[in-house]
Amino acid sequence: MTFEKRILCIGAGYVGGPTMAMIASQCPRCRVTVVDINPERIAAWNSDNLPIYEPGLDELVRATRGKNLFFSTEIERGIRENDIIFVSVNTPTKSFGLGAGMAADLQYWEKTARQILEFSESSKIVIEKSTLPVKTALAMERILNCRENGICFDVLSNPEFLAEGTAVRDLKHPDRILIGSRETEDGLKARQTLVDIYASWVPKERILTSNIWSSELSKLVSNAFLAQRISSINAISALCEKAEADVAEVSRAVGMDSRIGPKFLNASIGFGGSCFRKDILNLVYLCRNYGLDAVADYWESVVKINDYQQERFIRNMLGAMFNTLAGKKICLWGFAFKANTGDTRESPAIFIARRLLEEQAEIVVSDPKALKNARTDLKGVEGQIRYIEDPLQAAEGCHAIALLTEWDLYRNLDFPKIFDSMAKPAFIFDGRNILDHRRCFDIGFNVYPVGKPPLTHF
Ligand code: UDX
Ligand code: UDX
Repeated sequence: MTFEKRILCIGAGYVGGPTMAMIASQCPRCRVTVVDINPERIAAWNSDNLPIYEPGLDELVRATRGKNLFFSTEIERGIRENDIIFVSVNTPTKSFGLGAGMAADLQYWEKTARQILEFSESSKIVIEKSTLPVKTALAMERILNCRENGICFDVLSNPEFLAEGTAVRDLKHPDRILIGSRETEDGLKARQTLVDIYASWVPKERILTSNIWSSELSKLVSNAFLAQRISSINAISALCEKAEADVAEVSRAVGMDSRIGPKFLNASIGFGGSCFRKDILNLVYLCRNYGLDAVADYWESVVKINDYQQERFIRNMLGAMFNTLAGKKICLWGFAFKANTGDTRESPAIFIARRLLEEQAEIVVSDPKALKNARTDLKGVEGQIRYIEDPLQAAEGCHAIALLTEWDLYRNLDFPKIFDSMAKPAFIFDGRNILDHRRCFDIGFNVYPVGKPPLTHF
């Protein structure tokens, strides 16, 4: 079979893998190759045990792998043989030097740009998929166009808006696809090539085009706005606990205003995930860099409220459990940063587990998909930690359950049985407000939701 387009993606992570599987499945006339420096990851993509858990992903990969979707470690060959290159390598927060803890670490990204330059034997379209600070495309253009051998590169920005746990659905039915380019003749031509790929399955009115800087910035701003809503409702949850209001009732009333809308207003232990914190800090760094300190302070407060909310959860536990957790057994239900994923990056559970161990509690970590990552996250942390997948077994003999991830399976467990198996008085701290609090209370638990009055037997 001859293919119309040959597409490469560098970086086989949470973004690159699913995105390319979707393109391959929707564009049978495109040959899609995903490469990565990590051979274990590529081997996993080529096995029955994919490296990431995402509902619907197994089926998608099974239907396309070996036909027009390929996973490989041959980066140089991939660069040589493909005309359209997505760059989806990770851009974590910098941990050293200038901007440490705030700015994006661009070393992998720059290394990749240099590899593209070195191994290209023909002109190519290079697409930024990774979230990057504004004006990164400019740096990429400068690196890529520094040789005068007739080979040209058009750099596009095409940020990914998929959320983990719903990645396949988000990719199939995106709210919008954003494609930023230079507004030159070549830039517009490259932009059209990418529009045509997405138009295979995305309605035309959902494909937005813009200048390249707007596109880069829109990704950061989208994530900042989403995170800001969570910090706003979490800030209000603290007030609700003092004012005897119920944050779920407040968020329902507020969200029914069609100008505000109901989504992303669930109070919680705080947001996690690889993007929100990193992208906001990036935005903050950018603003400071341009001397916009008031703007930077405004966005930084979103992250501060998130830290505050996690610490508040621990303080509420301490206060409720007679100001000492030392020697007590506490079961964590959920370790993933949200339900339906095994991903634990920036999960509030990591902070909460560490803080509980600092208080000398013994913890039992339970999660249906994230135990492997949890073990890595807590490696070397001092204290008593056990890992038990079954939530009933995990809670046995514990003084408290802290529900940290909103997995559906926690909603309908045999709570009377769980209560009987626990030390008394038994506590539940519902960090996601998903349990039937009244029912748990009636069984005998002391129940502490987020942003609602506790139900206690004292
Ligand atoms: C990444 C970025 O974190 C995010 O900023 C961006 O929006 C999308 O890409 P994700 O896919 O979740 O998100 O990251 P990760 O799962 O860490 O995958 C990145 C992959 O790139 C890894 O498999 C890594 O091995 C690979 N990589 C990294 C390369 O192939 N080459 C490199 O030089 C560096
Ligand atoms: C996010 C963006 O939604 C997505 O568009 C972008 O491409 C990547 O970052 P993701 O991190 O996968 O996606 O998950 P998301 O559903 O946004 O949740 C992020 C965090 O916020 C989770 O920890 C979640 O539990 C928390 N959250 C979400 C709340 O605490 N309350 C809410 O109401 C919604």
